[in-house]
Amino acid sequence: MINDKNLTTEQVTDWWETEIVDIAPGMIRIRGYEIQDLIGNVSFPSMIWLVLRGELPSEAQSHLFGAVLVAGVDHGPQAPVIAIARMAITCGIGINGAMASAINVLGDVHGGAGQQCMELLADIRARADKGAAFDEAVASGMAAFREEHGRFMPGFGHRFHTVDPRAVRLSALIREAQRQGVVSGRILAIAEAVQDSISKGKSERVAMNIDGITATVLLELGFPPEMGRGIFILSRSVGACAHAYEQSLKGERIKGPTPPAAGFRYKGVPPRKFKAPQ
Ligand SMILES: CC(C)(COP(=O)(O)OP(=O)(O)OC[C@H]1O[C@@H](n2cnc3c(N)ncnc32)[C@H](O)[C@@H]1OP(=O)(O)O)[C@@H](O)C(=O)NCCC(=O)NCCS
Repeated sequence: MINDKNLTTEQVTDWWETEIVDIAPGMIRIRGYEIQDLIGNVSFPSMIWLVLRGELPSEAQSHLFGAVLVAGVDHGPQAPVIAIARMAITCGIGINGAMASAINVLGDVHGGAGQQCMELLADIRARADKGAAFDEAVASGMAAFREEHGRFMPGFGHRFHTVDPRAVRLSALIREAQRQGVVSGRILAIAEAVQDSISKGKSERVAMNIDGITATVLLELGFPPEMGRGIFILSRSVGACAHAYEQSLKGERIKGPTPPAAGFRYKGVPPRKFKAPQ
């Protein structure tokens, strides 16, 4: 037990230990690089990679990582995350509050499914690594996921798109990167096998959605599943910021999810006479 009054300098400086950044008057170093050497010389995706992973990516890795960040930026005002940013700003909070409110709904079902999808795909890869045949690894990984989380595989299905153009384009970029030897393409093969499996017997193929393709790219590039949601948030925050700002310019106050005249359906107890409890 340390007596607070007798802390040594080491005990104080060791309280927050970090390998990410070092600062002193007139000096900022990120992962060992002087900030002025990074500024103007690395792209924002490369900078994110450096901060998160500790090393700079190659040009090709940065290109693919940047593509996934571009893909997730916005999905229109009916996406709950964007609707919430817009509604929140009409409530009189600042843009930081509007963005934070929006980001808070990126859960396992909406926008945040990428992390769960990374866990699913990584689990299938691990099963194959342990010697299971590819089809068996896919089937047993999906069965294990279903047992724990229910029948919906994260990263697949979409309320709006039967084919998600972001997934189509990013799949093509993964294949290009695979031809260049930048990624193995193994995770894309697993993701497509999951998609095949859940599409069996359906009139239309179940789409791979933005969370699914983001998960695929991030795992191909070696990111751990725990970073999946945070990285998606970096991308979608841009959309939340833009929508909150645009909405703020309109000067509307307390804007709800639908025009008030549209009303909503009440399905509770019919009107009844109040009797004071005895
Ligand atoms: C996004 C989502 C809520 C849309 O659900 P939905 O509107 O019910 O999807 P659809 O009506 O288009 O589904 C068509 C069929 O595919 C199935 N299906 C859709 N998504 C599926 C998934 N992820 N896993 C397994 N089956 C799925 C549905 O059960 C349905 O089958 P049925 O007709 O036999 O009942 C759902 O796909 C989902 O929860 N996906 C996982 C979470 C996720 O990735 N979220 C991010 C979305 S961008």
